[in-house]
Amino acid sequence: MQVSITTLTRRRNGSLGQKEDIKACEVLRIGRGADNEIFLLDHRVPLHLAELHEGADGLFIEANGTNDLRLNGAIIRKAHLNVGDVVGIGPYELVVADPEDGINIAVTLELVHPIGDDVEALLSRSTLTTNNIGLTKRASSWVLGSLTLILFLALPLFMADTPLSNYFNAPTSDKNSNSMVNSNDIDFDVSWVSGEVMNSHKFFANDCAACHTKAFVMVEDAACTACHTKQHGHIDKVKFPSKELTSTRCATCHTDHQGPHPVRAAKQALCSDCHNDLDTKVEGMHLANVSDFASNHPQFKPTVWQDPSKGIQKRISLDDNPLEVSNLKFPHKTHMNVNRMRNPTTGKNTQLECASCHVPEISGAYLEPVKMEEHCGDCHLLTFDSIAPKRMVSHGKPEEIYRELAEFYSALALKGGVTDKAAPEIVRRRPGTPLVNEEEKKEALQWADFKTKKASRYLFSASQCGSCHEITPDQKNASGYSVEPVKVTQIWQPKSVFDHGKHKDVACAECHAADTSMKSSDVLLPKIEGCQTCHGGEQATEKIPSTCISCHGFHRDDVAIMGGASGKMVQ
Ligand code: HEC
Ligand code: HEC
Ligand code: HEC
Ligand code: HEC
Ligand code: HEC
Ligand code: HEC
Ligand code: HEC
Ligand code: HEC
Ligand code: HEC
Ligand code: HEC
Repeated sequence: MQVSITTLTRRRNGSLGQKEDIKACEVLRIGRGADNEIFLLDHRVPLHLAELHEGADGLFIEANGTNDLRLNGAIIRKAHLNVGDVVGIGPYELVVADPEDGINIAVTLELVHPIGDDVEALLSRSTLTTNNIGLTKRASSWVLGSLTLILFLALPLFMADTPLSNYFNAPTSDKNSNSMVNSNDIDFDVSWVSGEVMNSHKFFANDCAACHTKAFVMVEDAACTACHTKQHGHIDKVKFPSKELTSTRCATCHTDHQGPHPVRAAKQALCSDCHNDLDTKVEGMHLANVSDFASNHPQFKPTVWQDPSKGIQKRISLDDNPLEVSNLKFPHKTHMNVNRMRNPTTGKNTQLECASCHVPEISGAYLEPVKMEEHCGDCHLLTFDSIAPKRMVSHGKPEEIYRELAEFYSALALKGGVTDKAAPEIVRRRPGTPLVNEEEKKEALQWADFKTKKASRYLFSASQCGSCHEITPDQKNASGYSVEPVKVTQIWQPKSVFDHGKHKDVACAECHAADTSMKSSDVLLPKIEGCQTCHGGEQATEKIPSTCISCHGFHRDDVAIMGGASGKMVQ
C-alpha cells in the first residue's frame, strides 16, 4: 500500500509549513525507533507505539504491548479509523485525511506539545515560591547555614565538652568495664570524622575524645601513651634533651583515619629530616648523617668481639677490615674442600654444604647457632686413649671432663683387665678379681690418677680441644686448664634488621666469601656496596626502592618507654 504522511510544522511567526512523504509498506508502524515508518524523535513516545493497517473493513489502528492511544480524546487500545479522526500519540496529533488517487492512506502529523510547553504548564499550575513562604534567597541561606553550624559544630562541641552532656547520655551500666568507651553516647561529633580509623582502633573509633583530647588542638602524644604504655622511644632523652630532637609527635608518623590497615610510617622524610644533619643538631654526634640509602648512607659497622674474656665488643666499619676474636678456631675453606673432609667414622669423604652447619631459625631471618655436638662431633671425635678407642668424653667444661676421666680410669683400675702392657700388674689382673688390701687399692688408683692426668694433657692439647679452642693453663681449675669463652656473634648489625628468608634465592657466596676464608677471625659480611647492587633509595626505579624502615625499626627496646602513667613524657 501507498501511504502519504504530511508533517506540519508551526513556525515562530505562526505560519504553517508542511512536507509530504510517500511511503510504500504493508503496515504503517509508529514509534520512536528508527525502524518505524512514522518515526517520532521524542523521548515521550514509546519505541514501538502502534500500527496502522488497511483491512477488508477499512483502516484500523492497534497499540503495541501495554501502550495506550487517544482517539478523539478517548483512551483506546484499538479502533477503526475514519477520515477526520484525530489520534493522540504522546505530544503529537495524527489526523486521518482523504487520500488522493493512487494513495491508500493519507495522514497529517503535527507536534502539538513541544517539551518547553510542559515545564511552563507545570510552573503555571504551581503557586509555591520561596517568596510565597516568606523566605528570600538571603534568608534561606542564613537558615540553612545556621542549621549546619548548630548540627555539625555547636551540638557536637556542646555534647563533648559540657557536663550537661551527661544529661543526654543514658548512664552506662558498668562504668568500670571500659572507661574509654561509652557505647551509650549519642556521638554528635562523629559527624566530623575525616575517614575510617585503623582496625586496631575500631573498638573506640566513635569515642573521638580518646585521641582528640582538646578541641582545636592537634592530637597530643599523651592521648596515645595513655593506652600505649609499653611503647619504647627512639632517643634517650637524658642524653639528648634538645627539644628539636624530642618533639616529633606520634601522629606525625602514625596518622589515623586512613582506612582499616595502618599506614606504615614508610616515608623517608620522617627519618631523614632529622638524620640528614644530626651532626649540627648534636655536638659530637657519634652517628654519621644519613639521608638516603643509595646516595648518603654510611658503610656498615658490625659489632665485633674484641676480647670475649673481658666482654669487650666494638663497632668497626667494614672499610676498616675488622677482625673478630671469637676464641673459636674454624677454617671455612678447609671444610668446603671435599678432598680433605674424611669422616673418621664412615671413612668416606664428605662434601659439606653451608646448610650442613647453618640452619635457618624458625622465622627464617637469622641462622641457628652452630653447635659442636651437632655440626662438628661426627668428625672431631673427643677420644682420649687407644686402650678404649671408641670411648669419648662429653663436650663440656674442663673440670667436668676431668671428673669424667677420673671416674673412667678409677672404675677401670678397680675392675682390672687393662690390656696396656705398660700398666702395672695390679690393673692388668683378671677382670673382676677383688683387690685384697688397701695397699693394692692405692697402687691401682695411683695408676688411674696418672692416666687421668695424661689423657687430660692430651685432650687439652692442640690435637683435641685445642684444635678448636684457645686453651690456657689454669691451676685453679681441677683439670689444670681453662677454655677461653667462645663468643660467636649471632647478630652482627643490631642497629638494623636483616632477613635471610627474603634472600633465599641469592647464593650465600654472593654475600659471604666463606669458601676462601682460612681464619674464623675474618668477618665475612657484605659491604654496603653489595646491598646497593639490588637495593636503591626511596626514589629508585631500576632497583628495589628501600626506605629507612625497610631495614630499621623506630621504637628501640633499649630506650625508655615514651609516656609515663601520667601521660607525660618521663624518659
Ligand atoms: C585512635 C585515635 C583517634 C580517634 C579515636 C579519632 N581520631 Fe581523628 N585523628 C587522629 C589522628 C592521629 C589525626 C591526625 C591529626 C594530627 O596530625 O594531629 C586525626 C585527625 C582528625 C581530623 C583532621 C583531618 C585529618 O584527617 O587529618 C579530623 C577532622 C578528625 N580526626 C576527626 C575525628 C572524629 C570526628 C573522630 C570521632 C568519630 C575521631 N577523629 C577519632 C586520631 C584519632
Ligand atoms: C583506647 C586505647 C588506645 C588509644 C587512645 C590509642 N591506641 Fe593505638 N592501639 C590500641 C590497641 C589496643 C592496639 C592494638 C594492640 C597493640 O598494637 O598494642 C593499637 C594499635 C596501634 C598501632 C599498631 C597498629 C597495627 O595494627 O599494627 C599503632 C601504630 C597505634 N596503635 C598508634 C596509636 C597512636 C599514634 C595513638 C594516638 C593518636 C593511639 N594509637 C591511641 C589502643 C589505643
Ligand atoms: C618518626 C616516626 C615515628 C614516631 C614519632 C612514632 N612512631 Fe611508632 N612506629 C614507627 C615505625 C617506623 C614503626 C614500625 C611499624 C611500621 O612499619 O609502621 C612504629 C610502630 C609503632 C607501633 C606498632 C607496634 C610496634 O612497636 O611495632 C605502635 C603501637 C606505635 N608505633 C606507637 C607509637 C606511639 C604511641 C608514638 C608516640 C608516643 C609513636 N609510635 C611515635 C614510627 C614512629
Ligand atoms: C627527631 C630526630 C630523629 C628522628 C625523626 C629519627 N631519628 Fe633516628 N636517631 C636520632 C638520634 C638523636 C639518634 C641517636 C640515639 C642514641 O644514640 O641513643 C638516632 C639513632 C638512630 C639509629 C641508630 C640506633 C642505635 O641503635 O644506635 C637508627 C638506625 C635510626 N636512628 C633510624 C631512624 C629511623 C629509621 C627513623 C624514622 C622512622 C628515625 N631514626 C627518626 C634522631 C632521630
Ligand atoms: C662445618 C660447619 C660449617 C660449614 C659447612 C660452614 N660454616 Fe660458616 N661458620 C661455621 C662456624 C663454626 C662459624 C663461627 C666461627 C667463625 O666465625 O668462623 C661460622 C661462621 C660463619 C659466618 C659468620 C660471619 C663470620 O665472619 O664469621 C658466616 C657468614 C658463615 N659462616 C657463612 C658460611 C657459608 C656461606 C658457608 C658455605 C659456603 C658456611 N658458612 C659453611 C661453621 C660452618
Ligand atoms: C665432615 C667432617 C668434619 C666436620 C663436620 C667438621 N670438621 Fe673440622 N676438620 C675435619 C678434617 C678432616 C680436618 C683436617 C683437615 C685437614 O687438615 O686436611 C678438620 C680440621 C679442622 C680444624 C683445623 C685443625 C687444625 O689443627 O688445623 C678446625 C679448627 C676444625 N676442623 C674445626 C671444626 C669445627 C669447629 C667444626 C664444626 C663447626 C668442624 N670442624 C666440623 C673434618 C670435619
Ligand atoms: C671441633 C671443634 C671443637 C672441639 C674439638 C672442642 N670444642 Fe668446645 N666448642 C666448640 C664449638 C663450636 C663451641 C660453641 C658451640 C657450642 O657450645 O656447641 C664450643 C663450646 C665450648 C664451651 C663453651 C664455651 C662458652 O664460652 O660458652 C666449652 C667449655 C668447650 N667448648 C669446651 C671444650 C672442651 C673441654 C673440649 C675438649 C674436650 C672441646 N670443647 C672441644 C668446638 C669444639
Ligand atoms: C638496605 C638496608 C638499609 C636501608 C634502606 C637503610 N639502612 Fe641504615 N643501616 C643499615 C645497616 C645494615 C646499618 C649498620 C647497622 C649496624 O651497624 O648495626 C645501618 C646503619 C645506620 C645508622 C648508624 C650509622 C652509624 O654512623 O653507625 C643510621 C643512623 C642509619 N642506618 C639510618 C638510616 C636512615 C635514616 C635510613 C633512611 C634514609 C637508612 N638508614 C636506610 C641498613 C639500611
Ligand atoms: C643478600 C646477602 C646475604 C645472603 C645471600 C646470605 N647472607 Fe648471611 N648474612 C648477611 C648479612 C647482612 C648478615 C649479618 C646479619 C646480622 O647479623 O645483622 C648475615 C649473617 C650470616 C651469618 C652469621 C649470623 C647468624 O645469623 O648466624 C651466617 C652464619 C650466615 N649469614 C650464613 C649464610 C648462609 C649459609 C647463606 C646462604 C644460605 C647466607 N648467609 C646468605 C647477608 C647475606
Ligand atoms: C641480589 C639482590 C639483593 C642483594 C644483593 C640484597 N638484597 Fe635485600 N632484598 C632483595 C629482594 C629481592 C628482597 C625482597 C623485596 C621485597 O620483598 O619487597 C629483599 C629484601 C630485603 C629486606 C626486607 C625488606 C622488607 O621491606 O621486608 C631487607 C631488610 C634487605 N633486603 C636488606 C638487604 C641488605 C642489608 C643487603 C646487603 C647485605 C641486601 N639486602 C642485599 C634483593 C637483594
